[in-house]
Amino acid sequence: MNHFLDIHTTDVADLRAMLMQAQALKDARAGQPKGALDGDLPLKDHIVALVFEKPSTRTRTSFDVGVRQMGGQTLVLSGAEMQLGHGESIADTARVLSRYVDMIMIRTFDPETLHELAEHATVPVINGLTDASHPCQIMADVMTFEEHRGPITGKKVVWSGDGNNVCSSFLHAAGQLRFDMTFTGPPTLAPDPQAVAFARERGARVTIERDPLVAVQGADLIVTDTWLSMHDPQEARARRHNQLRPYQVNDALMAANENQALFMHCLPAHRDEEATSTVMDGPNSVVFDEAENRLHAQKAIMRWCLGG
Ligand code: CP
Ligand code: NVA
Repeated sequence: MNHFLDIHTTDVADLRAMLMQAQALKDARAGQPKGALDGDLPLKDHIVALVFEKPSTRTRTSFDVGVRQMGGQTLVLSGAEMQLGHGESIADTARVLSRYVDMIMIRTFDPETLHELAEHATVPVINGLTDASHPCQIMADVMTFEEHRGPITGKKVVWSGDGNNVCSSFLHAAGQLRFDMTFTGPPTLAPDPQAVAFARERGARVTIERDPLVAVQGADLIVTDTWLSMHDPQEARARRHNQLRPYQVNDALMAANENQALFMHCLPAHRDEEATSTVMDGPNSVVFDEAENRLHAQKAIMRWCLGG
């Protein structure tokens, strides 16, 4: 049994095996209805709890559909409606859920909650986003890049905007899969120094470039995300919008890249804020492939969690 908690704490060979399996699972389903069962049913007789302490469209739907395609069943639980939201400890929640279900996916705030859940659960635990990281998203993003452009190793990824949880998981992947990352954004919203250090220690080139037009030179992929994450206080909205506006991904920024770089956004997007609709719907955008690939990547992750 394995927990899938973060990209930097998962073995590189395992990450690669999951990415390969995700693509094979996707290929095998081509042309089939979404509800068709997979050829083998690794989750037959299994129940997976999907616990949400924050909203979700993609994570909730893609995990639910993925479990069903693999022959299992899901329980979708809202943290606020559980005793967890009314004072029960995460350790006791982990012990209790482990008696009922075969796997737990959780979306939460503090990464400590995820780690405590994993420590006390006797079934696999999957990180469906915390304030600090979003590893399932980046597995889907790497899969999407490689589907369009081949191996990501040695390529250049530019993150424009807030150095948030999704950015940290990208940096973890840069270290593990050896690609370069350039961050362009305001100094006060710089990426997590530990994620930067991890990527550098593993031999990835990580650059901080204040000028977005310079940053995108030579990029193979340009990525952004919302200017205000779910864990950020609403009071920060006006200040962040002012700080982040120069890092909007728009036609001028895409045109400053000579490489026909792909454009990614994990979604949900605030159109014409962090990225313009012209870029979101433009020829280099793969945002809906990313969303689809959450399904395939997470199916490979769940199989790995069960030891498959
Ligand atoms: N990208 C992502 O995780 O989307 P949701 O918040 O809709 O799950
Ligand atoms: N950075 C965003 C990602 C949403 C999928 C957030 O945490 O709200």
